[in-house]
Formats: sequence, structure tokens, C-alpha cells
Amino acid sequence: MYAPKDLANADYISLNINDTAAFARGSPQSLWRQWYQLSRFQRNIIYFVVITVCLVVFYLLPSDSKGSVSNSTETSHQKQHDAPKWEKLIEELVVENADQGGGAGGGEVIEEPEFQPEVNQVDDDQIGPPQRKPIAVTFTGPSNQRQKAVVDAFLHSWKGYKRFAWGHDNLKPISASYQEWFGLGLTIVDALDTMYIMGLNSEFAEARAWVEESLTFEVSRDVNLFEVTIRVLGGLLSTYHLSGDKIFLDKAFDLGDRLMPAFSTKSGVPYSDVNLGTRTAHSPKWGPDSSTSEVTTIQLEFRDLSRVSGQSKFEEAAAKVSEHVHQLKKFDGLVPIFINANTGAFRELSTISFGARGDSYYEYLLKQWLQTGKTIDYLRDDYNTAIWGTQKHLVKYTAANKYMFLAELVGSNKDVKPKMDHLVCFLGGTLALGAHNGLQSDHMKLAEELVRTCYQTYAVQPTFLAPEISYFNIQKPLEGDANQLDMYVKANDAHNLLRPEFLETLFYMWYLTGNKTYQDWGWQIFQAFEKYTKVEHGYTSIGNVRSTQNTRPRDMMESFWLSETLKYLYLLFDDTRQLIDLKKWIFNSEGHPLPIYDS
Ligand SMILES: *[C@@H]1O[C@H](CO)[C@@H](O)[C@H](O)[C@H]1NC(C)=O
Ligand SMILES: *[C@@H]1O[C@H](CO)[C@@H](O)[C@H](O)[C@H]1NC(C)=O
Repeated sequence: MYAPKDLANADYISLNINDTAAFARGSPQSLWRQWYQLSRFQRNIIYFVVITVCLVVFYLLPSDSKGSVSNSTETSHQKQHDAPKWEKLIEELVVENADQGGGAGGGEVIEEPEFQPEVNQVDDDQIGPPQRKPIAVTFTGPSNQRQKAVVDAFLHSWKGYKRFAWGHDNLKPISASYQEWFGLGLTIVDALDTMYIMGLNSEFAEARAWVEESLTFEVSRDVNLFEVTIRVLGGLLSTYHLSGDKIFLDKAFDLGDRLMPAFSTKSGVPYSDVNLGTRTAHSPKWGPDSSTSEVTTIQLEFRDLSRVSGQSKFEEAAAKVSEHVHQLKKFDGLVPIFINANTGAFRELSTISFGARGDSYYEYLLKQWLQTGKTIDYLRDDYNTAIWGTQKHLVKYTAANKYMFLAELVGSNKDVKPKMDHLVCFLGGTLALGAHNGLQSDHMKLAEELVRTCYQTYAVQPTFLAPEISYFNIQKPLEGDANQLDMYVKANDAHNLLRPEFLETLFYMWYLTGNKTYQDWGWQIFQAFEKYTKVEHGYTSIGNVRSTQNTRPRDMMESFWLSETLKYLYLLFDDTRQLIDLKKWIFNSEGHPLPIYDS
């Protein structure tokens, strides 16, 4: 029933028909004669006036009556064949008019999508809920000193990237060169919506031009389905929704289509790697398994792509994975971190963890439930069960100061390993978001405790930067040892990759509670980044957070520094807590906001 093509234009037509009819009422004969005596130029002027009036009326209508207008246009659109000539002429003029309306670069593109996929006929029966217009928001730039400092950090990073790594994936800011991973200009695509939100219009415009002219997926090269989905597909879709600029939707659709072969497994659980050029997919080189979090962290993006393109296949393939994992046996809601794409079964004895390879499975349970307007119950139920299982099995406390952390369970005996990745710090924000949306209030308590611990992982280091992994002391202190530490770091885990997870959580805590402490903590961390990771041509990950004298810069600026870390900092310092409305937007796992739907 839904026809993505020319939806916007069709809206105007139906109004025009009515209006022109009204104009002709009275003595139709003489009016028509006069009409045909007018010169073509005069008639065009009248058309133009009528159309302009219609457009104005249309935009002044309240949005629900607009809904009914676009409802009735479905019919007028289909009737096009027998429409009289003048109707067609009006239509052509409207099209011209609409074409001129869009297309502004930078800050304020507000254009409705006219997306028409070229491949695969759309099957009416399979289309989900109707496509939604981009929200198309405008932003006005930083409004206080802290936000301004974050924008400066962004610009400093961008300048180095532009000069030494333009069009490549990541900047190497010390050697003044670049690193290539997928060859998709990751940093540009990942940073688009951050620039848009920061109001960096000219930087946004040059990035947009690169996307339009140079971003191509026609390259025979293996990419990781999950990484490309959350960074590139998510970045393009988010930028499309925020800016309303259709170029981002076109690119997203092309990419989504090329990722689809990953799902051609017996179980429907996708392979980890896809070749975008040859459109073939396979398991990772290291073995037959995919990571559990990877195959369950593509659903927000694939669903959104279906909703905006009118093609249901993306959402269906991705939702099938969630449904499959839903019916697998779990350990009180907790999942092993590996899953076999061929058999669709978990690797039984693999670790259970909220860190690497487990983390965003839990995140996307909640976020998918929110994205679909809280209408898919099993997602919420699996999330609640998982948090309950977490409280039962993973929540542990240090002996000295009772810092709460989430342990890992390893091996067939599910032995407790008192170790927590920095990645786990995302969970505070997710828990807070769930509690704010009506889930149990003890989730908020858990969030606060985790936030307190994560803050300590920064605060106890002389650099005020957290390591990649921390270990915790859960043994009772020996008699007389009043100074037992709560946490310690192994030499191999002492690096900091400019990761965002804790700042992401602070953003949610600030937005949802209004407690300024969270802003102040974020500011402390930001200053530590300024002090220990800023170099002449950008910001670099460092190898050692345990010494201010020997930080061992690693010469790498990952794209998530721009897409997540700096974006969440910028939003954390938003005093209005309204720049991004959490009732309308859901952030994907790479910090890209996507719209929330009714179902
Ligand atoms: C408009 O669309 C709604 C939802 O699809 C439908 O229930 C309703 O009957 C439609 N109204 C008209 C006038 O076609
Ligand atoms: C704000 O948050 C901090 C850290 O969680 C907490 O110690 C403090 O009591 C909170 N303040 C208020 C007013 O709730």
C-alpha cells in the first residue's frame, strides 16, 4: 500500500486538484474559455500562485491532518493515468518547485525523502509500518565554554585527519599518516552527525561532498559486518535523519544491500565478514564462530533502513537473528560470547561477559524494544532476565571499599574472574535509560553503583584515564593491611584507546537525572584527554595510563573518538538536556542517533 516514490510531491497534487476545482466553480464554460485565452506565461504565473498558496496551507496544517492528506494521495497518485493534461502540468511544476526547495548544504536541509530503490520490486504485503520522514533538526553550535572546548578538540582532530589521512579510515596523528582498515573513509562517515550536531556547517559540507563524490562500496575487500553496520550504515542513516539530505540514504541503501549476503547461512545467524564488491560472505579467519554481540548489534540499523527505504528484507533478516537468539537456551538470561553461524548454536563453554563480544547484545535488547515503541515484549523480557541474571551471578564487590563491578564467568564451571573491561561501563547508561522507561527502579541503583566504580577506574590512575581492563580485589584484606587496593591493572591492559563508554553513560546519567556531578566528572576526564592524549596533529591512544611520564603514545586516532567520545562529551555539557530528545531518538552502539518508531 505504501509507495515511497514521490510521496512528497503527491501530497501537493491532491490539494491542487481540489483548489483548482474550486476556482472553476460558477460558470465553468466562460471561465475555461478565458483560461485558454491566457498566454502560457500567464497561465504559468497562475499555476505558480496557486501552488505557492497550497504549499503554505499545507505547511500550516497540523500534522495529523497532514497524515490524512498523504493518506488520500495514495489514490490520487495511482490515478495519474487518466488525469487531465492540466493536472499533469501542475504536477510537473510542483516537481520543479520541490526540486529547487531542497539541496542546501550544511545546516538546514529539510527535504522529504523520495527514495526509490532500483533493485527488487517492493512486495506490498511485506512492507512494515509506513516509512517516516527524516526528522531534520537544526543545531546552532556550542552554548557554553565546556561545549566550546569540546568543539575545539573536534576541530583539532579534524584538521589533522584532513591534512594527513583524508579519505582513509583512521588518522595516525604522530607519524602524520593514516591507517586503512576497510577503506571506507571511516573517520569521515563516523564523524558526520557529530559535526552536524555541533553546528560545524562548513566541515559538514566538505564531508558531505566527499560522501557524494568519493564514497564507494564497489571494492573487492572483506569488511566486518558488525563494524561496518554500526559505523558506516549507522552513521549514514543518522545523518540522513538529522539533516534530511537524501544522499546519505542513497549511500546507506547501497551499503545495506551489499551487506545482505552475510545472512545467507542455514541458521540465519550472519557470517562475520562480507566482501562488499563480490557480495560474498564467510566466517572469520580465526574459526567458525561469530561473536554473539556482533550478530545481535545490527538490528537497529537494518530495521531503520527498512523503515526508510520501504524494503522489508533488511529488518526481516536482522530481526530473525534476534528471534533465533531469543529461543536459544541461556544461563539466567546471560549468553556465551560466541555463536556458530552454521549451526546457530552458542559455543557452550565460551565466556560470559558484559565486555568484549558480549556487551551490546544486552544493549540492543533494550534499545530495539525502545526503537519499536515498546511493542516487542520478548526483547524487554530477555533484557530484564539478563539484568536479573547479572545481579545473581556477575555483580561482585571489592573487599576494601565495596566497589561494585561485573565479573566474567569462564569455563565449564563458570568460575568468577574478577575482571572488567572498560567497555562494560556503557551499561550504566543503558540501565538508566531502561529504568527511565518504566523498567525496575533497582536497575537505576545498579547503574549508580557501576558509575561510581567506572569513575574510580579513571580517578585512581595518575593520568586520570581508565585502562582497557581492570582487575578487582575481592579477597578480604590480610590482617593489618589497611591499604589494600580495590583495583589493579596488568601491564598489557594499561592502554587507553580514547574510548567513549563511560562518557556515554555520564551523558545518560546527566540527561536523565540532571545531577551536575556527572558533568563535572566528564569535564575531569576531558581535561585528562587534553593533557595526555593531545598531540600536534590530533589525539592519540596511549599505551600506559599508569604513568604521567611514560604514557607510550600509540599513534592512532580511532574513528569512535569523533563519533562517540567527543559527541557524548558535547551532549554531556548541554545544560538544557534537550539537544537530542531521548523520547524521539535512540543511539546506536556507535553513538549515532536513529529515530524511535511507534511500532
Ligand atoms: C488512512 O490510513 C489509515 C491507516 O493506514 C487507514 O486506517 C484509513 O482508513 C485511511 N484513511 C483513508 C481516508 O484512506
Ligand atoms: C549526584 O550524583 C553523585 C554521584 O552519583 C551523588 O554522590 C550525589 O549524591 C548526587 N546528588 C544528588 C543531589 O542526588
